[in-house]
Amino acid sequence: PNNVGILAIEMYFPKRCISEEDLEVFDGVSKGKYTIGLGQEYMAFTDDREDVNSLALTVVSSLLEKYNIDPKSIGRLDVGTETILDKSKSVKTHLMDLFAHHGNTDIEGIDSKTACYGSTAALFNAINWIESRSWDGRNAIVFAGDIAIYAEGSARPVGGAGACAILIGPDAPIVFEPVHGTYMAHTYDFYKPQLDSEYPTVDGPLTVTTYLDALDATWTHYRQKVAKYLKVAPAATNGHANGHSNGTNGHANGHSNGHATEPAKSAPQVSLDDFDYHVFHTPYGKQVQKAHARLVYKDFVANPKDARFASIPNPDALLDISHAASLTDKTLEKTFIGLSKGAHAAKVDPTLRCSKRCGNMYTASLYGALSSLIASVPPAELKGKRASMFAYGSGCASSFFSIRVVGDTSEMQSKMDLIDRLASMDVVPPQQFIEALEVREKNHNAKSYTPTGSLDNLWPGSYYLESIDDKYRRKYSVV
Ligand code: ACO
Repeated sequence: PNNVGILAIEMYFPKRCISEEDLEVFDGVSKGKYTIGLGQEYMAFTDDREDVNSLALTVVSSLLEKYNIDPKSIGRLDVGTETILDKSKSVKTHLMDLFAHHGNTDIEGIDSKTACYGSTAALFNAINWIESRSWDGRNAIVFAGDIAIYAEGSARPVGGAGACAILIGPDAPIVFEPVHGTYMAHTYDFYKPQLDSEYPTVDGPLTVTTYLDALDATWTHYRQKVAKYLKVAPAATNGHANGHSNGTNGHANGHSNGHATEPAKSAPQVSLDDFDYHVFHTPYGKQVQKAHARLVYKDFVANPKDARFASIPNPDALLDISHAASLTDKTLEKTFIGLSKGAHAAKVDPTLRCSKRCGNMYTASLYGALSSLIASVPPAELKGKRASMFAYGSGCASSFFSIRVVGDTSEMQSKMDLIDRLASMDVVPPQQFIEALEVREKNHNAKSYTPTGSLDNLWPGSYYLESIDDKYRRKYSVV
């Protein structure tokens, strides 16, 4: 199959959100702490009426309905989530209710877990299946979604909730390029060892540096692999060279330098100039600003003489900073955040629509950012563009990969209707958020339980948790 990629995409998020400005007042913190310090605007939340299974049922059924997809045309369904309701039974099995009654039980794929990375593992599995010998000619669906909530404290303002469903298949308007740069390591930055609680255990500052460290490593691995790839291609040595043998990796320019971790001197190098947009895992706005600035810094290290860096006052001092120190160096961060402001507005801002309204959606965060891009850029303008994708899950698992828009995205833009739906969310007082968290806390792991949340707080057509019986079996209905 050729041009395997995104055929259709749908987002779901709760109906209610709170304003981060209101939350600053409610929490009694200094003005600007959440809105400027973390770059957050609103945060979606839900009460005990929704869980990861209902999110999955809602967004996958909505994808099937909006795009008129025949449930029998799906041969694979992969789930990425870090919300654990059951240590054995997968979310995927709940989703089978949408397919089994159409006579389709022949659907491969199951849940993938590791913080926010499970969705990307699920996506890679779906792509690999279609490109493998076991592909049966049908399309795949990837579900990503989470309810992100934190215990009281500094992480609470960077929660959120949301879900994404993506239809993957051949001859798609948005194509996945083949090179992945991956970085996996054993870290204790964010994890969920307390199975009696929904809240993670977080070392906040360590999540920030581990994210940046992973970004560095995946970007380096991606560039090394692309350089290797391009080396075997004919005549890709001068200026912007496209069209190596399988035509999927876009531009490469002929810059080189002697930095030890960079690709070989003679190899054509990838730089940020090769991408029109950058899509990041988005825990909160400020982290994405730091991530983009970090990649600009990496370009600087790779090619300090580039005209983009001519205004840097003391470049040698920045080049002398060790890798470890560079992850927390404030002068470095400030320099490159300042330098990347224009590029951020053009290449990153269009990816932030979901995150600004819904906050962190964990596994759905990267794909919410991609959905935001599809929703924000006019299809005629998006066609022919390339975007980088950075997936990060604490613990940690991360990948840098890329996509190319080769076709028309207008159907996705109109069917998702993302911008209008985000605007029509209800902004409610923080007290409602706190009450919702309390009810979730109190009833986590409950049995013989009927949720108390009002159905008025749900979008029409969404699935909700109706009850949990004395054997912990969950029953869902539709509003
Ligand atoms: N006005 C403007 N800026 C302010 C204000 C204010 N009133 N108060 C603080 N700030 C700035 C700080 O200067 C700091 O800026 P900097 O990032 O440029 O240094 C920023 O706000 C953050 O403040 P801190 O005091 O450093 O950190 P805080 O205690 O707010 O915690 C953290 C932030 C660590 C991100 C916390 O929210 C957390 O643990 N979050 C969960 C983990 C997370 O999301 N990690 C991201 C990657 S992993 C993942 O996706 C889960």
